[in-house]
Amino acid sequence: MSSPIALITGGATGIGKETAKQLAAKGATVIITGRRQPEGDKAIQEIRASAGPTGQASFVRNDVNDEEAVRGLIADIVRQHGRLDMAVNNAGISNENKTLDQSDSAAFRAMLDTNVLGLYYCMKHEIRQMLTQGGGAIVNLASIAGLNGIPWAPAYAATKHAVVGLTRSSALDHAKQGIRINAVAPGAIRTDLIAGQIQLGQYDEKMISAMHPMDRMGEPVEIARGICWLLSDEASFVTGHVLNIDGGFQAK
Ligand SMILES: NC(=O)c1ccc[n+]([C@@H]2O[C@H](COP(=O)([O-])OP(=O)(O)OC[C@H]3O[C@@H](n4cnc5c(N)ncnc54)[C@H](O)[C@@H]3O)[C@@H](O)[C@H]2O)c1
Repeated sequence: MSSPIALITGGATGIGKETAKQLAAKGATVIITGRRQPEGDKAIQEIRASAGPTGQASFVRNDVNDEEAVRGLIADIVRQHGRLDMAVNNAGISNENKTLDQSDSAAFRAMLDTNVLGLYYCMKHEIRQMLTQGGGAIVNLASIAGLNGIPWAPAYAATKHAVVGLTRSSALDHAKQGIRINAVAPGAIRTDLIAGQIQLGQYDEKMISAMHPMDRMGEPVEIARGICWLLSDEASFVTGHVLNIDGGFQAK
């Protein structure tokens, strides 16, 4: 197969950027998206530097909350590259640490818009393209909060439970059509998102580490490896799976 074409939403930072580095190093042509051009430009330099001279990566400014923009993004990728082989629906936010009675409806709505509707728009237009070309692989970013209750995070947990539902149900719908749809469920990973959580209060790094049997946070590279495996032909019989990468959290 010639260079696979891979889309990573929210790929300018954190888990998405690390996944882009690994995919580019393995020979994929990587398109990362995000809302901030400077972060995107910086990420592209890093991805190209780490993937070596053959690393193919570009940044496209795109907001997953805008369905028409997502549809246009995928149409542009197909116009330029002919197809879309892999998609990582990674863009996500966590903007509140509060019990439900204290929580802000606007914060919940913002998380629903990005983590659920945004991911749904991406999946919808990715799957339409993959049906046209006869196959593809999708990985969604769920979370330990998609499989468990997490204190002070009822709204975030609700959105990540929805990601699991979208993943498993769509995997069934498209299993016979050459499209594999899986998710990863990371524990707490050292990224801007967790730094923001610590800033919001309630948690510090020691507490977050102690939630995991390995007594530490994960690193983006550890999640990216799982995503790359799920996208690869090595996972050719894997669909509808939610891969825990969580330092043992789910085993408790
Ligand atoms: N860090 C963790 O502990 C952890 C754990 C489980 C799941 N996750 C999930 O992993 C994914 C990546 O998060 P991360 O930890 O790398 O944090 P991050 O903040 O570095 O990455 C999220 C990226 O999504 C982008 N984004 C947000 N809203 C967007 C929008 N509307 N359109 C386009 N891009 C948008 C952000 O700008 C950012 O680049 C998220 O879905 C997150 O919920 C993270």
